[in-house]
Amino acid sequence: MTFPKDFLWGGATASAQYEGGFDQGGRGKSQLDFIDFVPSVNRKNSIGTDYMSLERFLKIRNNEGEYNLPYRRGSEFYTHYKEDIALFAEMGFKTYRMSISWCRIFPTGEETEPNQEGLKFYHDVFDELRKYGIEPLVTMIHYENPLPLTEKYNGWEDKRLIDLFVKYSKVLIDEYKDKVKYWITFNEINATLSTPYVGAGIFVEKSEKNELSVCYQALHHQLIASALTVEYAHKTAPQCMIGCMIARLECYAETCSPADVEATMIEDQINLSFFDVMARGYYPKSMLNYFRDNDISFDYVENYQEILKNNTVDFLAFSYYMTYVVSADPSKAENPGNLVKSLVNPYIEVSEWGWGIDPTGLRVTLNKIYDKYRLPMFIVENGLGAVDTLEADGTIHDDYRINYLREHIKAMDKALDDGVELLGYTTWGCIDICSASFADMTKRYGFIYVDADDYGKGTYDRYRKDSFHWYKKVIASNGEDID
Ligand code: BG6
Repeated sequence: MTFPKDFLWGGATASAQYEGGFDQGGRGKSQLDFIDFVPSVNRKNSIGTDYMSLERFLKIRNNEGEYNLPYRRGSEFYTHYKEDIALFAEMGFKTYRMSISWCRIFPTGEETEPNQEGLKFYHDVFDELRKYGIEPLVTMIHYENPLPLTEKYNGWEDKRLIDLFVKYSKVLIDEYKDKVKYWITFNEINATLSTPYVGAGIFVEKSEKNELSVCYQALHHQLIASALTVEYAHKTAPQCMIGCMIARLECYAETCSPADVEATMIEDQINLSFFDVMARGYYPKSMLNYFRDNDISFDYVENYQEILKNNTVDFLAFSYYMTYVVSADPSKAENPGNLVKSLVNPYIEVSEWGWGIDPTGLRVTLNKIYDKYRLPMFIVENGLGAVDTLEADGTIHDDYRINYLREHIKAMDKALDDGVELLGYTTWGCIDICSASFADMTKRYGFIYVDADDYGKGTYDRYRKDSFHWYKKVIASNGEDID
């Protein structure tokens, strides 16, 4: 095995899906607090929370009590954080990726002073992590925007969000720079393209622009906010490393027909273009051509070229769950899950939710990204969403998860041997949390089982799954013992 000695093994979560305590500690509301549970009847054919329309939002907003809103509960990290961090430490985590809830720090997003109780909560969490020598990796925004910014400004479509976010990110850096070394500005910045409400707090139907233009307008604002945050971090906290993140969607051509290969190249360029902006500091020509060819237009902020050019990130983070298949004929695309439309790949298996299981694709993607950017990388999400069964004796036998992770670790190992630079690996949902696609607890990723169902019924007690004991061994042997 080739894992470096200081390789950062760990797990990842997001505040909106995990934290709960939505009405405690002076927290405001986020746009995700209004997403209701969607029974996963159509698991293989849905990208879940993409359904949020303005009409639906208003119905929920005006009749909150009638809806099951699981994001508000998460898995109660707010009250269980000591117990959970002790369990992470027991597995030997070197790092723990988490996000901060913007509306816990600035409840409406527009206050001039931060909420002290919110700041204290994360101080307590970081202190607890330090106690066990676990290095926090903090995402400043994991989909979660203060609700008033959606209602007043249509979220990130509005330029004012840049300053509001930068005010928030500066507070985070000032406050926690001595406790947090690794930072990510935006979770999966490209998610805005497929889930505009979740990714950027926008209702596309409220805008005068066409759908892609409003999404790219929001993305432009996010990219500028990210660069300005990088600028501040580099100036005031040079000891920290600040990175950016995309949902990496490695894609394959359906056939070796040049037209399919060309269509795949364009898909790939679009996916990676966000790395170009944040790591190289400019919109690549392929992206500008894509805007031209797809009737995408939006307003650029003043001096955007300089802002981007002067403030590039220190590392590239990405989530990796699946690969997908592209055809030059768009009418052939189906919708098997996670953010993209794809054809079925007959050479790989799929999860219960239709996500293609492809460890080899991880090696391919690690090599491709490193060859292109030559920057350190961090895999900050990877894992298998599955239905788990809690046995009467408190055990959970999740061999399927162990098999999935084992094969991905082998792929990382090969990529390291190929010469890529990888800082660490944080598996997704290291403890069961509310899923993003369906806002449910049925789809679980954790090493730790949380006794709660889709309706918030259960004790919220924690149980170690078989994968918990396995991952502990993997970390203790620095990736040597993965059987
Ligand atoms: C990523 C998101 O795209 O996928 C997470 O960053 C999300 O927030 C994860 O939970 C897995 O998706 P899901 O829908 O299975 O929870």
